[in-house]
Amino acid sequence: MATPLRAIRGMNDVLPAETPLWQWCEGEVRAVLEAYGYREIRLPIVEATQLFERSIGDTTDIVEKEMYTFNDRNGESLSLRPEGTAGCVRAGLQHGLLHNQTLRLWYVGPMFRHERPQQGRYRQFHQIGVEAFGLPGPDIDAELILMTARLWRRLGLQELVLQINSLGSPYARAAFRDALVAYFAAHEDEIDADSQRRLRTNPLRILDSKEPSMQALIAAAPAFDTYIDHESAAHFDGLKQLLTDAGIAFTLNPRLVRGLDYYTRTVFEWVTTNLGAQGTVCAGGRYDGLVEQFGSRSTPAIGFAMGMERLIALLQQSGRALPLDGSPHVYLMPLEAACIAPVMQWAETLREAVPALRVLTHCGGGSVKSQMKRADQSGARWGILIGPDELEQGTVTLRPLRGDGEQRTLPRDAAVEWLKQRATTVS
Ligand code: HAM
Repeated sequence: MATPLRAIRGMNDVLPAETPLWQWCEGEVRAVLEAYGYREIRLPIVEATQLFERSIGDTTDIVEKEMYTFNDRNGESLSLRPEGTAGCVRAGLQHGLLHNQTLRLWYVGPMFRHERPQQGRYRQFHQIGVEAFGLPGPDIDAELILMTARLWRRLGLQELVLQINSLGSPYARAAFRDALVAYFAAHEDEIDADSQRRLRTNPLRILDSKEPSMQALIAAAPAFDTYIDHESAAHFDGLKQLLTDAGIAFTLNPRLVRGLDYYTRTVFEWVTTNLGAQGTVCAGGRYDGLVEQFGSRSTPAIGFAMGMERLIALLQQSGRALPLDGSPHVYLMPLEAACIAPVMQWAETLREAVPALRVLTHCGGGSVKSQMKRADQSGARWGILIGPDELEQGTVTLRPLRGDGEQRTLPRDAAVEWLKQRATTVS
């Protein structure tokens, strides 16, 4: 027997019972982003592998171990995008959008990382991301954070905590990196295998290690405060002041280093303890050097991305009433073959007159009993039956399926009016 076909591990279907929540959540995010003047950009899912190597960094976990990379039929190395920033910068440069102008963009879509799947961590996941270009000051950093805070309020999420840090300029970071290498190298026999590897490739990431045996050593490691450059410190002070003035609470986390190489200065994460180990719902920061690194004129930039699966999981836990029902409102039943065409036509009239109604027409024939059974299973609020009598009299028989009132036969126009009045109460 053939093996049953299944989705790839870590890649999930979002079933119709869940899509109303996804759509609602995406709609709320979109409304907030648009209220701040951000505009959507749609980007390819596949890009040249080199794009990610050169931006995210070839010694990061993402590029080293997690990308879905393959050669296409021309022998060119391509990768499924593991994140959206690189593609966004590429598009901005390719279409001349970054030259001498400011730009505020957002995108949504699937990202791919070959990580070990667990609750909240998937191989295909969805991000909504935001990128702002051409703005060097801490005002835009604060704007992004205010925008996310507004979104949490709108979604009714109170459990997210803001952590911020500054990674300084590349020069300050290089000096800090040297200090870290010297420190951890002096303790090389005490550090775990993963950190030993990172010592040579990406020493800042050792600070991010969750390995219990590393925690004491990490706590005593050199701190960045003494290495940060003057301009970055002033920038960070500016951000802290703006957040304080706006009443946004934050925690300073000097160990927040992020897993992508392109960051400079501000980095931030919104985290929760309600999602187990994968508690970062939204994360980002400045990447002032990336555009120049791609060979163009230096352009300051900052952005963030939020993981949709984690956001949805939080909403599901939140206990508030959420729009979870995508069932039809009305189920139309043609009781005989001769009724099919008139029912289909009347369904069009109804959709035209009451666009908010979800009208499902029974297809596939069958007895009245079997049609009623389907109507009930559909979750519809009202069944509407049209048989030979109704056809002859120009009426419809309206049967409440969810316990509100008596069955009644109405002229067709009156039935449209009756449903129109109730459409305001359906969701
Ligand atoms: P990131 O921290 O790699 O940053 O991902 C951002 C968010 O995507 C995470 O906080 C998390 O919510 C979600 N996420 C990441 N990996 C997974 C996964 N395997 N399963 C489920 N959710 C996941 C970036 O991607 C940067 N491009 C953000 C950014 C934009 N920085 C500047 N601009």
